[in-house]
Amino acid sequence: MERKTTHIPPEDIARQRGYCGAIKEINTRFAKAPLAFVDTYGCQQNEADSERIRGYLKEMGYGFTQDEKEAAVIVINTCAIREHAEQRVLGNVGALVHTKRKNPNQIICLCGCMVQEPHNAAKIRTSYRHVDMVFGPHALWRFPEFLYRILTRRGRIFETADDPGSIAEGIPVVRQNGVKAWVSIMYGCNNFCSYCIVPYVRGRERSRDPEGILAEVEELAKAGYKEITLLGQNVNSYGKDLPEPMDFADLLRKVNAVPGDFLIRFMTSHPKDATEKLFDAMAECEKVAPVIHLPVQAGNNRVLKAMNRVYTREIYLEKVRQLRQRIPDIVLTSDIIVGFPGETTEEFEDTMSLLREVEYDALFTFIYSPREGTPAAKMPDPMSKEEKSANFQRLVDLQNEISLKKHQAYEGKTIRCLVDGRSDDPRNNLTARTPGGRLVHFTGDEKLIGTYQNLTITGCSTWALFGELAE
Ligand code: 5AD
Ligand code: SF4
Repeated sequence: MERKTTHIPPEDIARQRGYCGAIKEINTRFAKAPLAFVDTYGCQQNEADSERIRGYLKEMGYGFTQDEKEAAVIVINTCAIREHAEQRVLGNVGALVHTKRKNPNQIICLCGCMVQEPHNAAKIRTSYRHVDMVFGPHALWRFPEFLYRILTRRGRIFETADDPGSIAEGIPVVRQNGVKAWVSIMYGCNNFCSYCIVPYVRGRERSRDPEGILAEVEELAKAGYKEITLLGQNVNSYGKDLPEPMDFADLLRKVNAVPGDFLIRFMTSHPKDATEKLFDAMAECEKVAPVIHLPVQAGNNRVLKAMNRVYTREIYLEKVRQLRQRIPDIVLTSDIIVGFPGETTEEFEDTMSLLREVEYDALFTFIYSPREGTPAAKMPDPMSKEEKSANFQRLVDLQNEISLKKHQAYEGKTIRCLVDGRSDDPRNNLTARTPGGRLVHFTGDEKLIGTYQNLTITGCSTWALFGELAE
């Protein structure tokens, strides 16, 4: 089979790394390494992209700061999924006028999904003139070249051409966390759910070669990472464009075979491609965490059809049944959109009843936000904001009840958890995660971060579990 996916030639990436070297030359003229600030909005894919931007920046000789005032370069990696995310970005970018006035040499870069939308790129061009560089997800691999151009010639750069997307291997990364790592296995989305902007800004689905993924996982396992999350907009359609037939279940088994003491997570799974073959692989692979994020979006078949989700409530429930049959204690989470155009309160009741039927461990809930250029944005949307908010609140209340009940079932159990960081809970100093990803606050020596510990669950809230180190 002929390969449809375009790969950036290795010599082109090498050329970009050459620009990193040239910028490093410039930066070594300063007594102190100049600093960069990378600010990330949105999903894990954006977090992973920011790790590559940091990788490039480190190779250019930049240090890192969280303070925009002292940064020589600011990179804002934006999200377009809902209006709220865009408003936050625009507010924060607007405020940078003041830091740039104090520091006119500061270079401000905007990248990510939001700037890939033509109307946003146009707005930044005309109304945010302090922004020097704008590039969409497809052009990320060329960041060093853009920065070199600005450093040597000034001017503004806009690189947001529409593009089906490609795969760029060999970009350096600086990971934000020493315990958990993201590994992108594919990019883009072909599903065109009628409300969603992602396929327009992130291009078509394309899979990384398994060899590249496995090499990265091996490296991470050797470096002592304890949790590896395989990332993609829809990981379940992994492999459809590969020359050798391979699917996500096959990939999971290969990743599971990499030696090391680490857990494998993945996200996101589209229910339409979640197969019994995948559930079998999850059940049989000891490193694959007993958790799945399986966004349902709505519980009513008319609404699901209008959303272009391609499954029915009945098909979804059957998949949940198949999963629980194989992995009885699976942690199940989901996304729900409330107030999709034309959804009536009666139809919304079907989402409520689906929640009662499935009993998710946790839910990510959103009020529908129209995205310019998507089919749903043109659909009649007669329900008032107030009515949508009232439905939303009922949904959240119901889920809180369910989450609490689910958490109460953990009390008294001793579970091997990964200690993953510091807690913001006033009574505890550390956090850990159960294999299913539930958050546990507990007290212990900070040296335990990055290790597995047996924790006895002593209490809970809607949001988290509380535990103590088992004897
Ligand atoms: N409005 C509200 N929520 C949305 N999502 C995606 N697009 C929109 C939108 N236009 C939600 C979906 C998806 C999650 C990542 O964000 O629930 O699964
Ligand atoms: Fe958006 Fe649907 Fe693709 Fe998810 S599967 S990114 S919701 S279009």
